[in-house]
Amino acid sequence: MGNFLCSSIGKKLIMSLTGFFLLIFLALHLCLNLAALISDSLYRQVCEFMDASPLVKAMVPVLALGFIVHILFSIWVEFENWTARPRGMKYAVPCKTKASWSGRNMFVLGIIVIVGILLHLVHFWAHMQLQGFLGNEGSDPYELVATLFKNPCWVVLYLIWFAAIYFHVSHGFWSAFQTIGLSNSLWIPRLQFLAKLYAAVVCLAFAAIPICFLLFK
Ligand code: HEM
Repeated sequence: MGNFLCSSIGKKLIMSLTGFFLLIFLALHLCLNLAALISDSLYRQVCEFMDASPLVKAMVPVLALGFIVHILFSIWVEFENWTARPRGMKYAVPCKTKASWSGRNMFVLGIIVIVGILLHLVHFWAHMQLQGFLGNEGSDPYELVATLFKNPCWVVLYLIWFAAIYFHVSHGFWSAFQTIGLSNSLWIPRLQFLAKLYAAVVCLAFAAIPICFLLFK
């Protein structure tokens, strides 16, 4: 088992499985947060329900573990790829490569996504669920969203973050299917299209939240 996880395919498999898990989280998180565009009371109810739910509380460490394992394995794979390149090519990208721009920049895109997540946790999670864990009263979720997205600078930074998520997810989605063996020359183009569709729908819907708050709320 240890040998399998250390093998190239083992590491890619772990990255695919944790990646799928994070894709599911992203879609659920989007659905919950779209409630903020419908009404303030609905958004408060949704957030209260999530914070009180024992299942959600139990999922917090699982989610954190999913992120950490995905990140650590990507650093491991990237490091091995880097050291495996011939001397003098450490910074060079072969020009004959057929990989997409997203595929070649997954690691850098991943770093932008992580920095965005850390900032996002400071903006929201630290004022809400963390306060609950510490036995304090959390801030009002709707006020947090409305106050943050009144500031155009944060709106722009969040839009850049969503763009990085779009490119990261549009490659990661079909690449994960490829790793678990669910693709061939017929299915790769279909999965690539589905990946772009999923990433576009999710990221555009996320982007609608700060844009609507800045312009209309
Ligand atoms: C405008 C879009 C978004 C809004 C309004 C939003 C809002 C929130 C809120 C209110 C929380 C705190 C929930 C609580 O503590 O009970 C939260 C937590 C979190 N968000 Fe977001 N979020 C957005 C986009 C994203 C995106 C794109 C990601 C992932 C890449 C993400 C990842 C997380 C994570 C990992 C947590 C901590 C776990 C959790 O509480 O569910 N969020 N978000």
